[in-house]
Amino acid sequence: MQDHIRNFAIIAHIDHGKSTLADRLLEMTNTVQAKKMQEQFLDSMDLEREKGITIKLKPVRMVYNVVNDVNVLNVRNEKSGNIKTVTTSERNERSNTTTFILNLVDTPGHVDFSYEVSRSLAAVEGAILLVDATQGIQAQTLANIDLAKKQNLVIIPVVNKIDSPAAKIEESVEELAHVLNILPDEILKISAKNGTNVQELLIAVIKKIPPPTSPTRPGLVDEPFRALIFDSDYDNFKGVIAYVRVVDGQIKDGEKINLLATKTSTEIKELGYLNPKTLPQKEIFAGEIGYIATGIKEPGKVRVGDTITKSQISNLKSQILPLPGYKEPNPMVFASFYPENPDDFDQLKVALSKLKLQDPAMVFEPEMKEALGRGFRCGFLGTLHVEIISERLEREFGLGLVISTPSVIYRIFNKRGQEQLIYSASDWPDPSSIANMEEPWVLLEIIAPSSYLGKLMDVLKDVHGNYLETNYLSAERAVITFEAPLRAIVANLYDKIKSTSQGYASLNYKMLGYRPAILVKMEIWIAGRPEEAFSRIVEEHDAYEQGKKLVEKLKDALPPQQFSVALQAIIGGKVIARETISARRKDVTGYLYGGDKSRKKKLLEKQKKGKKLLREKGKVNVPSKTFLEIFRS
Ligand code: GTP
Repeated sequence: MQDHIRNFAIIAHIDHGKSTLADRLLEMTNTVQAKKMQEQFLDSMDLEREKGITIKLKPVRMVYNVVNDVNVLNVRNEKSGNIKTVTTSERNERSNTTTFILNLVDTPGHVDFSYEVSRSLAAVEGAILLVDATQGIQAQTLANIDLAKKQNLVIIPVVNKIDSPAAKIEESVEELAHVLNILPDEILKISAKNGTNVQELLIAVIKKIPPPTSPTRPGLVDEPFRALIFDSDYDNFKGVIAYVRVVDGQIKDGEKINLLATKTSTEIKELGYLNPKTLPQKEIFAGEIGYIATGIKEPGKVRVGDTITKSQISNLKSQILPLPGYKEPNPMVFASFYPENPDDFDQLKVALSKLKLQDPAMVFEPEMKEALGRGFRCGFLGTLHVEIISERLEREFGLGLVISTPSVIYRIFNKRGQEQLIYSASDWPDPSSIANMEEPWVLLEIIAPSSYLGKLMDVLKDVHGNYLETNYLSAERAVITFEAPLRAIVANLYDKIKSTSQGYASLNYKMLGYRPAILVKMEIWIAGRPEEAFSRIVEEHDAYEQGKKLVEKLKDALPPQQFSVALQAIIGGKVIARETISARRKDVTGYLYGGDKSRKKKLLEKQKKGKKLLREKGKVNVPSKTFLEIFRS
């Protein structure tokens, strides 16, 4: 049985065509009926479709019949003339077909969702690595190759979009061959869009990726049951759904299971495969990817990386070791979320717990701030991650939020030498108590066409980091290595690099550690009141510039009020920048005909008084989208 299973992921830089290739595979294997097919089928979330990016990993089980496989392989190998046969122990002699089970995991491409990729890779034996022929190798391509190699996966290198007039096929093949240290002939050239060579790719998957029972990754049906949870979701009726890779043994519907790390026992409510919708089965086996509905209603009890075993086996105290699991993700960026309506605190807590099931890279804990009330301090892998979670909270749970400016973790030492970790500008201590401070730095790798190097260097200069070196992938494309404060990435260096290079450059980063810094807290006051959520930590020497830009941006982003609103950037009690939003004028005298001047004056006076009252009482209501717009700036 296992001989005919292939588990694989599609990995690539953002937009190189993973979801489009997955569409073709779903069609070719008749997993999705033609009339139900829509582009990027596996990107089922509204937000994914709107933004055109994959946010979540998505497993799908396909059944593929290789008809007259010898012939198929003949075609494939016409260059070398070699005829090879695939393993056919379960061959159906009558129709001369061999049935393969292909478990595919589609993964996101953006660096902020790399935890999704690493979890996917632990559930499979191989990966299709796509490189867009119009773009060549990009930063995430290199990062994904590293991840796949660390997991000892078989990599099937593929150059995609060969149909595009802008494709530089041979250059992309050369680059990829160079990076992987293989021959250009070993690279498949496909068009995921119109299906060219996709059949050959499927055959390569079957031939090159080992079945789950390979000697390097044993997984035997007669071993005691063990499954790795690599993802999860929540269903109101079936409780937490664990997406699992069955590593050993088999399990039936209704059996009792244990979750080792959280020491939780439960009875299976349903199990089966993902097709990509849930497809209930009576039993699932070693080597397969599927789901187990646990019936558990507390999201925290089911953790990705945990091992599921059968209850009776654990009761016998036989030696069942947990599977290696995953390294906990390291949140890089923190932002606090407060419900606009303080009564929604509990609702926000439930929403975050449910989202965490689908997105275990996010962490959160409750906090209380005098100026902001009760909310949650949340940790993320990057600013796009902050944006996606806040949009999901709004859309999927109907929650209006106040969102603090995303921040890295600063390390502050007071004059007595005590260390304090600062997750948010609102926790910044009194400057007179600070002896010294440190901030996290990262190693950036930027891949770009050589013609953009000059402009990119200008952008990097503003970051005040250290340039290390430039290496060439080919005559036209280079990799710049640069050290920078992580703060710069949070302030959207990614977007700046993208726009400077007209989308051609890409960026990846790795944590380096903490280094000394000279920083100050900048407050934003709106209509004479500090708006704590907008506070941020800035470098002392360009605080003035930053303050100016921020209030200008805020002036554009805030909706006009009935009274004029002062916007101020303040450091240590000193105003460093100021803008004013003029009042939205309502014509209170419009209905008066003729020249009754005194009546008109009286009305205008009344309006003025009303506005003063509003201004005195007036707290300007900042909509959630303004918080997002500002921190994106
Ligand atoms: P993320 O999940 O966001 O990283 O993107 P992705 O890698 O899944 O890429 P996706 O499949 O969404 O494709 C990105 C864009 O490239 C879409 O506009 C596709 O239509 C286009 N595209 C994908 N494959 C091909 C191809 O073979 N040829 C051409 N011309 N366009 C393609």
